[in-house]
Amino acid sequence: MQLTLNSPMDMHLHLRDHEMLKTVAPLSAHPFAAAIIMPNLVPPVTTLQMVEEYKARILEATADETFEPLMTLFFKADYDYAFLERAREHISAIKLYPAGITTNSQDGVSSIDSEQLAPVLTAMSDLGIPLLVHGETDGFVMDREKEFVPVYETLATRFPELKIVMEHITTKESVEALKRYDNLYATITLHHLLITLDDVAGGLLNPHLFCKPIAKRPEDKAALLDVALSAHPKVMFGSDSAPHPQHAKESCGCAAGVFTAPIALQALAQLFEAHDKLDNLQPFISDNAQRIYGITPPEKEVILIKEPFTVPEKYGSVIPMFAGETLPWRIADVS
Ligand code: DOR
Ligand code: ZN
Repeated sequence: MQLTLNSPMDMHLHLRDHEMLKTVAPLSAHPFAAAIIMPNLVPPVTTLQMVEEYKARILEATADETFEPLMTLFFKADYDYAFLERAREHISAIKLYPAGITTNSQDGVSSIDSEQLAPVLTAMSDLGIPLLVHGETDGFVMDREKEFVPVYETLATRFPELKIVMEHITTKESVEALKRYDNLYATITLHHLLITLDDVAGGLLNPHLFCKPIAKRPEDKAALLDVALSAHPKVMFGSDSAPHPQHAKESCGCAAGVFTAPIALQALAQLFEAHDKLDNLQPFISDNAQRIYGITPPEKEVILIKEPFTVPEKYGSVIPMFAGETLPWRIADVS
């Protein structure tokens, strides 16, 4: 049995920098044609020079592959119109983080007051720059995303022409909000389609499945599966593959992030096949994102076949999801 995917894209990816970039970037650049690159470096990517220099380092690390890094800026409320107009040529989107909500987000916005953010959001709307949002409040950890829905609603209503992507949604409330507002879209990760909080903390604690937003309840997972497996036109695959070295995960003060880049397509094939929805993987993995972002990725054909793939225990210092386990699909060819 064989499956061909055309120009798969990962619409939410952390590639980091330096040695980690060299380790992880080729693992995405091989199977994926393009990816939206998150800007939460230390310090965050806030200038066009930083965007271009980071892009050059990514292209250098992925020189052997056909791969387009779609760059983003880290949202700052003081970007002016002239800057954003110039930025448009260099970036695909701007990512907004509430301050301190996740890894390297200390410089994010301290209050998501839509009037305070209005100048930047109006400019982005005029210039057609999508807004990507890490949508969590600082409330109780299981309720953070649900509590953020009114913020999405305010933003969607106040800026009706602004494309707003609810990143890595994990709750049924987010799925409902997505359907209610024309200008809301969403990325969904692999891991949130597969796990609930039980997999993280229901038995022995599994630090490799600890991420932000934390995996939620079975009914939330079911709502995500419903829109992903049907390739709802407003959802896209975004892995949120977020590598951290083993010592940072297996420690007191475990870093948030699941590393899925090297196993994402294989595990998605398994999931979509199990639900008899393999035909919907192409729109979920590329076509929807092409339409939503208005982009055409480089041509790349990925052939998966139903043969066992034993996931390596480690890539450099990073433990992937399903380390040491055998998945039923493997990547046979990329051209
Ligand atoms: O689990 C996460 N890891 N969630 C995020 O939002 C950030 C990411 C990271 O950069 O490690
Ligand atoms: Zn992320």
